Amino acid sequence: MFRDLLDDPDNYSSQPGTFLDVPFVPTDDAVIKAMLDLAEVGPNDLLYDLGAGDGRIVVAAALERDTRCIGVEIDPLRIADAMEYAGDTGVEYLVDFIEEDIFTVDFSEATVVTLYLLESVNLQLRPRLLNELRPGTRIVSHAFSMGDWKPDELLAVSGIKIFKWVVPAKVAGTWEWESVDGTPHRVELQQKFQEITGRAWKAGKAVKLKNTYLSGNKLALDIESGAGEVAEFLLKFENNSLCSVEEF
Ligand SMILES: C[S@@+](CC[C@H](N)C(=O)[O-])C[C@H]1O[C@@H](n2cnc3c(N)ncnc32)[C@H](O)[C@@H]1O
Repeated sequence: MFRDLLDDPDNYSSQPGTFLDVPFVPTDDAVIKAMLDLAEVGPNDLLYDLGAGDGRIVVAAALERDTRCIGVEIDPLRIADAMEYAGDTGVEYLVDFIEEDIFTVDFSEATVVTLYLLESVNLQLRPRLLNELRPGTRIVSHAFSMGDWKPDELLAVSGIKIFKWVVPAKVAGTWEWESVDGTPHRVELQQKFQEITGRAWKAGKAVKLKNTYLSGNKLALDIESGAGEVAEFLLKFENNSLCSVEEF
């Protein structure tokens, strides 16, 4: 359905002079619920819906999850609809709709970002999502991927794909710490989004870096500790630097 609409430029605007990067197509209720569940949206979140349309994702999150939300929408007629809907459902105190362009609006305070755009638009937004959102922020997208940034989770609801990414901290580089028994450890890490590869040394001797798992600002590393044993470390990053290490 979305693809048919894309072929007809009339669908790109509700009034002459408003250029839309994506036409208005609303997300249905079952998909909204699945998106909010997948992102584990709750009362401590600040959700931004980029391209908010008639406000249905924003209102659902406010109504059902007690979540503060901001809908960003370039089309003033949709903003008017969204504000009316928020008023009718009694959630105005939790939501705000701002008439801005998704490519220039400041969304850096978000803890959850919802998208129903296009893959090409997601890809244009991707550098800002990765650089401006805090590590750990969840992004969910209805139907459209982020190219070679693989999702952390992917599900299908009635055949519709829903993607979830967790914004990864920047962890590439060389990091050194001491294990609980005082042995120096060092890793040199490479990063492609949340995928981490690299090399490890224990007391100056090369050892195997067996598994890596990055979620937000937490990086789990399994490092060979000799005699077939593996030490598990949980490294936490703040401001692109290693701030603490736990050992298991
Ligand atoms: C596919 S609809 C999604 C609406 C809503 N998020 C939902 O899922 O029901 C995309 C929305 O993005 C808006 N939009 C398109 N280009 C935009 C831009 N550059 N900045 C802000 N909003 C934009 C359109 O007006 C439309 O309402």
